Amino acid sequence: QKTTISVIKADIGSLAGHHTVHPDCMAAASRVLAEAKKNGVINDFYVTHVGDDLILIMTHTKGVDHPDVHGLAWEAFKKAAEVAKELGLYAAGQDLLSDAFSGNVRGLGPAAAEMEIEERPSEPIVIFAADKTEPGAFNLPLYKIFADPFNTAGLVIDPRLHDGFVFEVVDVFEDKGVHLNTPEELYDLLALIGTPSRYVIRRVFRKDGKIAAVVSVERLNLIAGKYVGKDDPVMIVRAQSGFPAVGEVLEPFTFPHLVAGWMRGSHNGPLMPVPVRDARPTRFDGPPRVIALGFQVKNAKLVGPSDLFDDPAFDEARRTANKVADYIRRHGPFMPHRLDPSEMEYTTLPQVLERLKDRFKPVKDLPVPKVKHSEMLSGAEEAHD
Ligand code: F6R
Ligand code: MG
Repeated sequence: QKTTISVIKADIGSLAGHHTVHPDCMAAASRVLAEAKKNGVINDFYVTHVGDDLILIMTHTKGVDHPDVHGLAWEAFKKAAEVAKELGLYAAGQDLLSDAFSGNVRGLGPAAAEMEIEERPSEPIVIFAADKTEPGAFNLPLYKIFADPFNTAGLVIDPRLHDGFVFEVVDVFEDKGVHLNTPEELYDLLALIGTPSRYVIRRVFRKDGKIAAVVSVERLNLIAGKYVGKDDPVMIVRAQSGFPAVGEVLEPFTFPHLVAGWMRGSHNGPLMPVPVRDARPTRFDGPPRVIALGFQVKNAKLVGPSDLFDDPAFDEARRTANKVADYIRRHGPFMPHRLDPSEMEYTTLPQVLERLKDRFKPVKDLPVPKVKHSEMLSGAEEAHD
């Protein structure tokens, strides 16, 4: 019997802006999942949040992309969104783009990371969820976890990891993917994933075909044809005995690397690893946050979680993130703090260009501007004469 882990998240509305999920919304979603557990649709569940994203962690035996499980998640989000509407929460129902559920949440608004596994006798997993950023934010940490021997000692000294891993990289603009082998094709991999807005690591496999990691890869803004929310990602990573150790899985997050998102989904900022209680990004709606929950999966049940970034060993990363936030914020509306126009989710650029279009001239034809002397200025000049 195989076990499926499904992590599905949606922004169904937030308390006081875009930074946290109301406890009543979490409770409403939990009630729906508890009922489904009783009825045998799922075997177990855990409800949490990162920032304004409600996260459903579910285990079952139905396989990935199953309509019952996706339908259940949809139901839970709808109930939570109803509560959000009653309470007048901000952007209630934001990610529930369609009223008609058609068997799968993919493309509707919620994001899903799912894997079907043959449970090992002991099956440690880490669930990551990030707010105010995009799926490509996991490119750098995934590279370090599964391909960088300076991060993951096991790649060098554990015979079970020594063969390396296969990365599945998706071009989110073309909806195409490619498998790249590491360490053989390391440089090709890096050539792609260094553009995290376009080339996103979706899955990582061991060379024997066993799945090691999966990321939710959705481009909400493209799906809806307009901006409806940064596609804050979730990720599942398997750990230990033949996979990277939990400590190797967490190690990349000691470096709060710059990711796209933050205020209005239009700024670069450091990804700060935090315990769930601190997953409430308020400074300039950020900086972007990531949480990590450790579980054991046993007979399709969830044991845990342990809040893995609730460790003083990540204090320094948080301090660095704050320093970087101070530094980069001082750029205000300038790139590279503000994103490239093609990546911005809010923009006035087309209107500004439209308004200025007749005033744009060939550079050589630009006249010296005729500026009226203000009376005060001419007065001052006279006084000096
Ligand atoms: C970014 C985010 C927030 C909002 C910002 C403006 O992903 O959720 O930074 O973009 O608070 O929100 P609105 O446009 O709803 O006033
Ligand atoms: Mg969010």
